[in-house]
Amino acid sequence: MGSIKVAVTGVGNCASSLIQGVYFYRDVSDETDIPGLMHPVFGGYRIRDIEFVAAFDVDPRKIGKDLAEAIFTPPNCTVKFSDVPKLGVKVQPGPILDGVASHMWKAFGLEEGEEVEPVNVADVLRESGADMLISYLPVGSGKATEFYANEALRAGCGFINAIPEFIASDPVWAKRFEDANLPLAGDDIKSQIGATILHRTLVNLLESRGVKVEETYQLNIGGNTDFLNMTVEERLSRKRISKTEAVTSLLPYEIPVRIGPSDYVSFLKDRKICYIYIKGRKFGDVPVYIDVKLNVEDSPNSAGVMIDVIRAMKLALDRGIKGVLTSISAYAFKHPPIQVPDNIARQWVEEFIEGKRER
Ligand SMILES: NC(=O)c1ccc[n+]([C@@H]2O[C@H](COP(=O)([O-])OP(=O)(O)OC[C@H]3O[C@@H](n4cnc5c(N)ncnc54)[C@H](O)[C@@H]3O)[C@@H](O)[C@H]2O)c1
Repeated sequence: MGSIKVAVTGVGNCASSLIQGVYFYRDVSDETDIPGLMHPVFGGYRIRDIEFVAAFDVDPRKIGKDLAEAIFTPPNCTVKFSDVPKLGVKVQPGPILDGVASHMWKAFGLEEGEEVEPVNVADVLRESGADMLISYLPVGSGKATEFYANEALRAGCGFINAIPEFIASDPVWAKRFEDANLPLAGDDIKSQIGATILHRTLVNLLESRGVKVEETYQLNIGGNTDFLNMTVEERLSRKRISKTEAVTSLLPYEIPVRIGPSDYVSFLKDRKICYIYIKGRKFGDVPVYIDVKLNVEDSPNSAGVMIDVIRAMKLALDRGIKGVLTSISAYAFKHPPIQVPDNIARQWVEEFIEGKRER
């Protein structure tokens, strides 16, 4: 079926886990049950069909390095679970725009406002033959996200938005991709077993057992640069909306709720700790309380999900499907254009793979 040519912007921990994952599972048989993937062969595509052809970042410590080396360069701190051979793809400088929080410039070895001269991103994408561009930019990079979405349009690539900025869930952007005959998926990638899916499952369980949910919180702490970046509350507004709506959309009534990243604890590195609390009311008006703690390596958690998204987007490109891919977006992202319960979203993706559902 040919290869799937993928470009990434933001060579941080998530890109590291994705690229490692592709090499970790490169030689598996078609029958291997891979934890975290829908199928080892997805619409005819295998993991080994994925090829990384271009990468962009703004960190001088990563720019100019082979992608295989850049993914293990600090401040990246996620677990190394696979060797990655030299890929022959150098990390190229993109424009910073709003990608770096004020308190983080110094760590990049840059004065605020300084940047490595950026390349023409659309030209690089075109020359690399990329089928799609994945955005793994930091939370709060609204302008940078729009810039890369636009470069994908200019280059004729599909766009996958892994971060909590609203592109796939924004009808104006969806229309722009539709008009350009290009597929789009997003927004804000959902982890295999992360805070969002756990919280959604608990709320669903209470709802299905007739418990009235009265209040809930989900507090998250971690020690990677994603969490350091998110200590600035102004960068967080869309992250809070995305994570909150992923849970509250399951309830037909409003409740007091607080969900989002809560602190940076450097020694945790890429380990994320999540505390979920739910208070409900059951038969006899009697209260019930649930307190859960999740402790998980953050970045590998969404890498398998992304491998399925990449293959869904390639299928859409093969089939000439343009605009938002509603089924894979509902399954794999926290803030999709159409939000449905997870079992229904999975069914939609199965139908999409079989060609029974257009998008
Ligand atoms: N861990 C998960 O499972 C998960 C789930 C949902 C969403 N996300 C989101 O994915 C994104 C990436 O997460 P991460 O852990 O890899 O973060 P990270 O901080 O490790 O990586 C971000 C990278 O983007 C680079 N960057 C900053 N501005 C840029 C620009 N203008 N152009 C190109 N590169 C730029 C940084 O230098 C860094 O290398 C975050 O927004 C995160 O919230 C992750």
